[in-house]
Amino acid sequence: MKQAIEQVYRELEQLKCKTAKEVEEARIRFLGKKGSVTALMEQFRSVAPELKREFGQKLNELKNAATAKIEELKDGVGAAEMQQASGEDLTMPGDAMQLGSRHPVSIVRQEIVDIFRKFGYDVAEGPEIEDDYHVFEALNFPPNHPAREMQDTFFVSTGHVNPLLLRTHTSSVQVRTMEKEKLPIRVVCPGRVFRNEAISARAHCIFHQVEGLYIDKNVTFADLKQAILLFAREMFGADTQIRMRPSYFPFTEPSAEVDVSCNICKGKGCNICKGTGWLEIMGCGMVDPNVLRASGIDPDVYSGFAFGMGVERIAMLKWQVNDLRHYFENDMRFLHEFATATEV
Ligand code: DAH
Repeated sequence: MKQAIEQVYRELEQLKCKTAKEVEEARIRFLGKKGSVTALMEQFRSVAPELKREFGQKLNELKNAATAKIEELKDGVGAAEMQQASGEDLTMPGDAMQLGSRHPVSIVRQEIVDIFRKFGYDVAEGPEIEDDYHVFEALNFPPNHPAREMQDTFFVSTGHVNPLLLRTHTSSVQVRTMEKEKLPIRVVCPGRVFRNEAISARAHCIFHQVEGLYIDKNVTFADLKQAILLFAREMFGADTQIRMRPSYFPFTEPSAEVDVSCNICKGKGCNICKGTGWLEIMGCGMVDPNVLRASGIDPDVYSGFAFGMGVERIAMLKWQVNDLRHYFENDMRFLHEFATATEV
């Protein structure tokens, strides 16, 4: 009997199966009703009583070994057959899961906001659907100013004294902030704005702005210039220069447009700055006394400055993207270029 057991062990050791069918056949051969292990179990009955203990143990071990071997073979052919059926190599490493990344416009908006937060500015937000009063009237737009007209503004309702519209700039948040916050005020207002413009490489009907407002006693144009210079250097590099050109906005007096030295050609002149060495980044000025008065602030006691910039414009200059439409089409190849520039 001892030899018979050893013989079965040898057979088990050499046993190989390629298919599930072969495994089942092997199971029957060893463990089936007429299988070799079962036969040995039956022979056990006629073993001499003094050997029963020893052989009982041996036979149990054999049966367990045979069962384990069959299970092992079953698992093996299972995986192999599944692999054959799907045509895939299951031992290959898996594909990495693609992580999303923040949109380049969000990255730059956050960067602008973070810079001003460092300077002590709070963040304020206002509604995208606004009324004429907050977008135009309180900002000193004369009644027939062209910006109010249908070709620029998307109206939500017309015919009222104070129609609802999609805000055309985030300057409306200035007004809302002045109405409800205590002085002094130091805020930046990021947000989405809407204009009825034909879509091109340089214009879109939806874009983003960041507005800034600082109101306190004795705020001067020198403070404005310093704030903008510090911002420009944080945003575009420590060697950035700024220049201010006189301009006009109904809500500021005096008003200016700000250019930064071209960070590509370092001011020498290239096709991005159209040979001028300068790039326009924002409008700004000292808050018009009429605007302060409209929101209940005494212009004889307080003064302030405001500025407003387009987020897409800053992003285009920062990354030298020459077509605004890239920021709205969400082509994954474009978006992934910024994936490394962001934190997750
Ligand atoms: N609201 C202006 C625009 O949309 C930008 C702007 C210019 C904002 C001058 C200001 C400012 O606060 O002082 O074009």
